[in-house]
This record gives sequence, structure tokens and C-alpha cells, in this order.
Amino acid sequence: MENFTVYNPTKLHFGVGVISNIHQSLKKYGKKALIIYGKGSVKKYGYLDALKKQLNLSKTEYVEYGGIKPNPVIDDVRKAVEVAKNEKIDFIIAIGGGSVIDSAKMINLSYANNIDAWDIMTYREIPKKRVPLITVLTIAATGSEMNGAAVLQNPKTMQKIGYASELNYPDESFLDPSLTLTVPKDQTINGIVDLIAHSLEAFFAYGDAPLSDRFIAQVIIEAMDFAEPLLNNLKNITLRERMMWTATVALNGTLYAGKASSGDWGVHALGHTISMLYDTPHGQTLSIMYPAWLKHFKSKIPERIAKLGKLITANKNTNEDQTIEIIENFFKKIGAPTRLQDINLTENHKKQILELLIKNKVSGMNFSLDEKDYEKILNFAMQ
Ligand code: NZQ
Ligand code: ZN
Repeated sequence: MENFTVYNPTKLHFGVGVISNIHQSLKKYGKKALIIYGKGSVKKYGYLDALKKQLNLSKTEYVEYGGIKPNPVIDDVRKAVEVAKNEKIDFIIAIGGGSVIDSAKMINLSYANNIDAWDIMTYREIPKKRVPLITVLTIAATGSEMNGAAVLQNPKTMQKIGYASELNYPDESFLDPSLTLTVPKDQTINGIVDLIAHSLEAFFAYGDAPLSDRFIAQVIIEAMDFAEPLLNNLKNITLRERMMWTATVALNGTLYAGKASSGDWGVHALGHTISMLYDTPHGQTLSIMYPAWLKHFKSKIPERIAKLGKLITANKNTNEDQTIEIIENFFKKIGAPTRLQDINLTENHKKQILELLIKNKVSGMNFSLDEKDYEKILNFAMQ
């Protein structure tokens, strides 16, 4: 095993109804909150009103910044930081999905340290302080509610990049699965793909960590078990509960003890390039790029890929080809795209993607990628 440190300070409240307990936690974080939310689902379904009720119960003042888009952009973060400065807020509450929570994390660091958020994201400046951060999760997918990562896009530099810091862990996160009953089918599919991709990124990190490998396989087995019933019955609370917790566990540190880093992240970096160019939902980029990446690396790491299949199928005879087939067929079965053509991208788009991959020198942490790899992976993604 590789040396590792376990650190996760987020206090997590899980279950139907936990949103009604938020007021009990709020007092200790200060007098005035900045609420961050997305394009409108939290208003449409009454979640924002339910949160405001909690703020009123605890007599917490608040201001709000709404309109964070999926694949969030640095401009929104900068605008929200201005609101935070003008209103002298004490803490931040993010209500939404990964895009909202990630933005809130960087709003926090930029505001608390008076540094531009992109300078932090690109490690030009090191933040030292933070204000408290509370999250109310409304969609199961990223694990941002219990990790230190944030991912943002900068259309000026044409980058979508991740940033990780111990300062980014939310103080408290409220995971009420009943809030996810309104997540539409396509976003539910994206979330299932994302949590499986996080498990795969952990699996392909450097290091021999058999227990983590087993945990990873179990997370994937669980997702494969609840996915179809859930997609056939989006209002089933038991299945929503299972998905919500599985997505959190897939990226809260549980899966990478004994590995050299939190994961490989090469496939995510490839996918981020596609999202940057075409605003493609995160999950869709992953269901296309993971099978392609596996096919490309099959000859280099056949045993590693086969080990994943053996664990998932509990069959010692499963080989690398069958493993890739299992993952790709699962994505197809749940209605996720597995080729660039499935999201209407053509040879011309492929060239654009290749150019941006080269420009941004996209790579994984364990399996490095260069120009030749990009071309071959993109070919698999179109075959
Ligand atoms: O914007 P609104 O109107 O709120 O609608 C959102 C959005 O359109 C909608 N939605 C959310 N909760 C809903 C709902 N619709 C109905 N009912 C609800 N309860 O869902 C759409 C997607 O929201 P978003 O926050 O973008 O989804 P997700 O949680 O999948 O986040 C994706 C972002 O997180 C990044 C991705 O790159 C992407 O930018 N990631 C963050 C990670 C992290 N911080 O650890 C790791 C991931 O690998 C990922 O990169
Ligand atoms: Zn992801």
C-alpha cells in the first residue's frame, strides 16, 4: 500500500426530513449567510423556501446569489464574491448540485482571502483562510458535499480544471433524498455514470490497495443494482436514498486509502475538455470517454482491468475484454451516450477536442497522456 492520510471533517446529516434540522446548526456560524443556488430548480420545487424557513427559525440574516450554471464558470464566482464583500457575510450556504457547491467553495476562498478565485484554482496564490460552508444537496452525483474538490470553467483560457484543498470541505452537509425525487431522468443517468467514474478513477490510481479495490467494486455493484429500477421509477425514495449515499461514498475518500492520490483523473480531464468546448453535461463526457480510455489502455494494463471485472462479477475467469464490455454495456443499458456521435459530435469536433487537449496538456496522474494517446482514445470514442 502507499502511505496515506485520512482527513474528512464534514459533518454529514443524511435522511428524509434532515432539511428540517438545519436551523439547529446555523447559529454557530454567524449572523449573515450568503445563499448560493443554480438556475432555478430549487425555486421551482420549493427547496429554497424550505431553506429560508430554516434561516428564519434560527434568525439568520441572508442574501442570495442565484444563477450558477451546470459546468459552472469563474465569472459567476467573481460576481458572487462581490455580493459577499458588499454584504459582509459570515458564512455560505450552497443549495444545489456539484456546480453550485463547487462555486460556493471557490467563492468562499476568494472572499475569505481577498484573492481572485482563478489565481487560487491555478495555484498562483495559496489561500489560508475560509468562512464556514454549509451545503444542502439536491442531486446525487459528484460527492462535492463531502470532499475538498471544486471544478470550474474559464472560457477566456478555455480550461475546465479542478482544485483541491482541505479548506474546501463543507462544515456540514444536509443530504435529504426526498429533494432528489425531482431530478429528471437524464440528470439521474449522469449522476450514476459520474459516481461509477469516480470509483474507476480510484481503481486506476497508483498503488496496491486490495481493500480499496474491493470497496470500489462494491460501489459499482451497488450502482448497477439500483440504476435500472430507479430509472424506471424516479419517485422511489428507497432507490433515491441508495443513490445519494453511494454517490457520496464514491468521492469522499473511502475508496482511495492506500493509493498514491485520490485517483488517476485522466478520463475526467478528457471529459472536462469536451464540457469546456460544447457545454456537455459532465456525466455524458464520462460515459463516452471511460470505455474509450479502457480500450486504449487494455494492452498496457490487461491484468488491472481484468481484476476490476473479476471483483464486479465475482468470477475469477472474467477477462479485460469482458470487463470493458460490462461497463460499456451498462452505460448503454441505462441510456448514457458511449460515442461522440451519440451527442452529435462529428470528425470536425474531434479535431477541435484534440487541439484543446494538446493546448492544455491534459493528462492523468497515474497514466500520463500525450498527443498519440489522445488521438487513439478519441478514435475509440468514435468507433
Ligand atoms: O441549475 P438548476 O436549475 O438547479 O438545475 C440543475 C442542473 O440543471 C438540476 N438539478 C439539481 N438538483 C435538482 C435538479 N433538477 C431537479 N430537481 C433537483 N433536485 O440538475 C442539473 C445539473 O446540476 P449540477 O449541479 O451541474 O450537477 P452535478 O451535481 O452533476 O455537478 C456537475 C458539476 O460538478 C463537477 C462537474 O465537472 C460539473 O461541473 N464535478 C465536481 C466534483 C467535485 N467537486 O468533487 C467531481 C466531479 O468529478 C465533477 O467534476
Ligand atoms: Zn465526476
